[in-house]
Amino acid sequence: MIVIGAGVIGCACAYELAAAGARVSVFDVRAIGQGASQASAGVLAPYIEGHETSALRELGRRSLDLYDAFIERLTARSERVLHYTRGGTLEVALDGMHATRLRDSAEALRRDHVVARWLEPVELRRAEPLAAAGALGGLLIEMHGFVAVPDLTNALSAAAMQNGAQFALETRVLSIAPEPNGTLIVETDHGPSRAADVVFAAGSWAGQVHISGVDPTPVRPVRGQLLHLAWPTGQSLRHVLWGTDCYIVPWSNGRVLVGATVEEAGFDERSTAGGVRDLLAAGCALVPDLRDASFIEVRVGLRPASPDDLPVVGRSGVIPGLVYATGHYRNGVLLAPLTAALVRNLIIDDGEDDALDVLSPSRLGRL
Ligand code: GLY
Repeated sequence: MIVIGAGVIGCACAYELAAAGARVSVFDVRAIGQGASQASAGVLAPYIEGHETSALRELGRRSLDLYDAFIERLTARSERVLHYTRGGTLEVALDGMHATRLRDSAEALRRDHVVARWLEPVELRRAEPLAAAGALGGLLIEMHGFVAVPDLTNALSAAAMQNGAQFALETRVLSIAPEPNGTLIVETDHGPSRAADVVFAAGSWAGQVHISGVDPTPVRPVRGQLLHLAWPTGQSLRHVLWGTDCYIVPWSNGRVLVGATVEEAGFDERSTAGGVRDLLAAGCALVPDLRDASFIEVRVGLRPASPDDLPVVGRSGVIPGLVYATGHYRNGVLLAPLTAALVRNLIIDDGEDDALDVLSPSRLGRL
């Protein structure tokens, strides 16, 4: 079978399918993990990122519950060390309105049996000494965490290759079309390939691949700029910090990440002076000591957003061999284990799952 896209979703699908015994080829015009994945901070936080819809929260929670076992199995299979932690997120209130909202969230989460705690200013200082001195408190959600995304995509692709998957990189997919016998032809700039099943994980670029008989994939790019800073030795945050205008993630290699802008900029992958200025201002407001950090680089990614902000995962209602796995918007890393399990179950076991009703491609048109 063919997987189109070597980002975190394509690599996770390739890994699960190859582990299940499938012969997998992965096509991508870029190197592994060089689309949106390389600009992700890897935050695993369904109760922050999924605020907006209960469906997204539910999916995020389900995928987060898979994460420990997913990482353990992947580490054993790939023989690589992955930086993965579940040290919690701390959402910090710098003004009264935000504090009220976070206190209410703490109550609502507790009613949903999520372990969440409002920390008064003194407790916040104890939990996270580098948070702004004037902060009015914070919401601690201990189950949250993060994974270093380059580690993850490298381990997923390595494990997939150990199970026989082949990666055809620098290979642009142009179109997909079914033959009369149901086999799919994937046309690339290096010629055609055929497969009974194709997993379409092309992220923001999904709409650029022509697929015979179906609507263009309704996914648009939403730009995110992410700063990589480094502190002089000795300083570190204990949690992922979240504010109204940024989040801050302490990666283990001494880097601290500040993200991310959310911009409708089409396929423009430039970093901008305005984006960097806004992130620096928001980051320093939350953690004033960041002023002393070195500036390493800006990463820019194009998140693939669907019209309802939910991923598009499931079999095409028009071309049975085509399985969509795209549109993960802000939650690709979080939802990778669940997406890969759904895709594997669909293709290998023809399995049903309630999540596929919510994620069904046909909710968005003739797909
Ligand atoms: N998941 C974080 C972001 O998209 O910025």
